[in-house]
Amino acid sequence: MKEAEDFLVKKLTERKLAHNLRSLPTVNPNLIDFCSNDYLGFAKSSLLKHKIEAFQQQIGTIENGSGGSRLLSGNRAFTEETESFIAHFHETESALIFNSGYDANLGLLSSLGQRGDTIIYDELIHASLIDGARLSFADRLKFKHNDISDLELKLQKAKGTIYVAIESVYSMDGDIAPLKEIHRICEKYGANLIVDEAHAVGVFGDHGKGLVYQNGLNGKIFACIVTFGKALGCHGAAVLGSHNLRNYLINFARSFIYTTAIPLHGIISIKAAYTLLAEQDQQQALYQRIVLYRKLISTLKWPRTDSLSAIQTLILGNAEKAKNTAVNLQQLGYDVRAILSPTVAIGTERLRICLHSFNTPEEIEGLILKLKTHER
Ligand SMILES: Cc1ncc(COP(=O)(O)O)c(C=O)c1O
Repeated sequence: MKEAEDFLVKKLTERKLAHNLRSLPTVNPNLIDFCSNDYLGFAKSSLLKHKIEAFQQQIGTIENGSGGSRLLSGNRAFTEETESFIAHFHETESALIFNSGYDANLGLLSSLGQRGDTIIYDELIHASLIDGARLSFADRLKFKHNDISDLELKLQKAKGTIYVAIESVYSMDGDIAPLKEIHRICEKYGANLIVDEAHAVGVFGDHGKGLVYQNGLNGKIFACIVTFGKALGCHGAAVLGSHNLRNYLINFARSFIYTTAIPLHGIISIKAAYTLLAEQDQQQALYQRIVLYRKLISTLKWPRTDSLSAIQTLILGNAEKAKNTAVNLQQLGYDVRAILSPTVAIGTERLRICLHSFNTPEEIEGLILKLKTHER
């Protein structure tokens, strides 16, 4: 017991000394949100709330919890209808809902990769995809971020069934993968492409169908992951792909099988959010904010990734500076957060600034003015 406690204290002290000790911040609702992944304001939308309530009334069943896993007492006709709705929306064959994006990626990659197979992934992919690959029995190879030549080198080395895992929008950099080129090279080597669309759904493509759809690749990608906790403002995720893939995951994805299903009210929220996305064009307002931000930020000298998405970065280069700048901006009324190592590489500690359709031009201008005073 003493030994284990000493170990905990040692690891926490190391983090503290490196200025990257994590703690749980309470969200201050009075600050201007430049931090959440609620890109379209769905998480706080009264319109969405009313839609959810209307669906709940229509269904009428009282259900606080689902009572079990999807394979036992947790499956509902409404859940399967919602999955068909999602598949239809993204114009793919099928969808399977998982409890979170983390669970979807973990279950997908860990169940696919068999001994002798290879999972190749972009060096900046999300931890959930890395963890899924680690839990699989496949060999793992990493390629340089968005670098087609390096991907090709890794494809030449790969053995067995090959899977290539990427994000369409990178969560900590906001930049976009060259989807068409990556798809082409995967085809050349017979590799199966897996695209995490967590930060593209709701933001890119007709009605927010995502970048895979925008590039005309829907139905041509082995598996896509869409998540509901970001632009859709609720919770959960789905893997999109063939009927065979869906049936395979129901049988082999342990993070799908061995967990209690999302309760009906969670599924209702997902269906309502997708309905809202299908009914309205929410993307224009967000896009205008991104254009304005990019124009104003170009006068600052701090390095940043060239991002056309809702995720913008300012690379401050060390943990202390990133943290202090974020705290200072919060004191001035702007909820901006620092992203530190090990989430990003040492030396690339940054501010991750998320733009939303509900951020006013004045709020964006105000933030840039404050950033300018910090740069001096
Ligand atoms: C690219 C990416 N994939 C997956 C996830 C996990 O999704 P969720 O928050 O639904 O678990 C995230 C969220 O941080 C993400 O950024």
